[in-house]
Amino acid sequence: MSRKITIKALKYNPLSKVSKPHFAEYTLEETPGMTLFIALTMIREKIDADLSFDFVCRAGICGSCGMMVNGKPRLACRTLTKDFPDGKIQLMPMPAFKLIKDLSVDTGTWMNGMSKRVESWIHSSKEVDISKIEERVEPEVAQEVFELDRCIECGICLAACGTKLMRPDFIGAVGINRVARFEVDSHDERTDEDYYELIGDDDGVFGCMSLLACEDNCPKHLPLQSKIAYMRRKLVALR
Ligand code: SF4
Ligand code: FES
Repeated sequence: MSRKITIKALKYNPLSKVSKPHFAEYTLEETPGMTLFIALTMIREKIDADLSFDFVCRAGICGSCGMMVNGKPRLACRTLTKDFPDGKIQLMPMPAFKLIKDLSVDTGTWMNGMSKRVESWIHSSKEVDISKIEERVEPEVAQEVFELDRCIECGICLAACGTKLMRPDFIGAVGINRVARFEVDSHDERTDEDYYELIGDDDGVFGCMSLLACEDNCPKHLPLQSKIAYMRRKLVALR
């Protein structure tokens, strides 16, 4: 039996002189298997063409649809409306990122800055000869790199992080996870001292207050806390 659901979405355009933050309320008929992506698309098509939100893949892969759903950061395309028994859903943009409009935030600029800050590329003195067979990597190393590379840069770990909200320059679980990914990669020749230069301060690995919200909310279930603890153990020896 279908039911009516109510979605309250925060609306605000920071570029408009007349716009003020307010909630718009929409009531719609729930359909089987309805996700927030489907609900928001229905709202935009039938009720409010001005509502802004981001989606690309609709499959939990691109990382663009993060938003606060009843106070918790979630991927909207992977959130089913049936999981809200009272049918009341409140949507807000994720904190920690620049607001574009309504539910749309700019995660890309932050992620790009993070990638540059942790020098998110293989550092190697070896010349790569593409005519030769690739260097052998131990299967367990390849598996761990693959595991940590599953991050989709959705920003949910940052939106959930108390440290990030208090300390705007905190690199967050996503940044520390990225460093851990290169630290384990046998192609990368960087030393612990090099990683210390990048994240060995309170805006890096020593700023984390171990609140665990990053790992609790990561939609890819990355082992964020154990990777933060691992990097902290390695780098604390250099303090
Ligand atoms: S670590 Fe998880 S929550 Fe954080 S950006 Fe990557 S996928 Fe998203
Ligand atoms: S639309 Fe791509 S992760 Fe949700």
